[in-house]
Amino acid sequence: TTPLRLGIAGLGTVGAGVVQIVQTHADLLAKRTGRDIAITAVSARSRKADRGVDLSAYAWEDDPVTLARRDDVDVFVELMGGADGPAKAATDAALAAGKHVVTANKAMLALHGQALAEAAEASGVALRFEAAVAGGIPVVKALIEGLAANAITRVSGVMNGTCNYILTRMESAGLPYDDVFEEARALGFLEADPNLDVGGIDAAHKLTILSAIAFGHRVDFDGVALQGIGRVSIDDIHRARDMGYRIKLLGEARRTADGGVEQSMRPTLVRADSPLGQLEGGMNMVVLEGDAVGQIVLRGAGAGMGPTASAVMADLCDIARGLVLPPFGQPAAALALPSRAKTATP
Ligand code: HSE
Repeated sequence: TTPLRLGIAGLGTVGAGVVQIVQTHADLLAKRTGRDIAITAVSARSRKADRGVDLSAYAWEDDPVTLARRDDVDVFVELMGGADGPAKAATDAALAAGKHVVTANKAMLALHGQALAEAAEASGVALRFEAAVAGGIPVVKALIEGLAANAITRVSGVMNGTCNYILTRMESAGLPYDDVFEEARALGFLEADPNLDVGGIDAAHKLTILSAIAFGHRVDFDGVALQGIGRVSIDDIHRARDMGYRIKLLGEARRTADGGVEQSMRPTLVRADSPLGQLEGGMNMVVLEGDAVGQIVLRGAGAGMGPTASAVMADLCDIARGLVLPPFGQPAAALALPSRAKTATP
């Protein structure tokens, strides 16, 4: 069999992690998928940076769009980030050229998911994004495949590790928000635009992707009732603790009685002795509820080199195995227009 040939755009932490797994687990991947997985070309902003991985065997492209269209690339692996700009241009180019796409780009999917899914379907290729939601936790796969026979009633959870770090650290160290925010910045936890984290936007991007899959509607970022953690005070946290609760940036998407879907992302009281209440540090937790299966709780690292690369690789393994699933679990044309619950507050 011919190898599955990757073109990787973006060689930050996640990109370097993917290169590392492709190199160190070549045999394991070939055994499990029945096919060699090989990198043919890469692209990133700086050619010189030392990323701790050997890139000498791969062709270099300065322009990700050119990379996406190369004849010796079967899968375009988009790890640049950003809803628009080069990531979007290269993804569009890849799908139009009939390349499979694997991406970790939650912002791009939250804002352009429908058009991208339609483009992938028109070309008959896969568009996969396990790494875009909750890092290493295989929650997209759980919803699309594992729970395919369930009517989903609710998807909830903590989907931004940085906010969870800040909130748990405020409580454990008794430090005010501003101090812990600076600590998180020094530790390199914050996104380049910190408001994506603390404003709840990053977590809301992830929630909208899960909601679209769970409830079969188009990705509806504008439909999320959104509030970040910037106004949570140490007093709020102490008062919650005294009542047996913790404050978490909790996302929730659920089917409502009037047939709509309600999506929210906001600081929420959760019982301190519940699984969500005990979630510490930079971890993520997603709770899935289906009519047949009941409740499933998934916990793990929502960011970082190994966990996020693990999710990217899982998508690549599916493609190597010949699996082309509809990106949101059903044909894009069949995804309903968002029907927001009448009770949802904008
Ligand atoms: N800033 C994100 C987080 C990274 O803290 O969870 C993963 O998307």
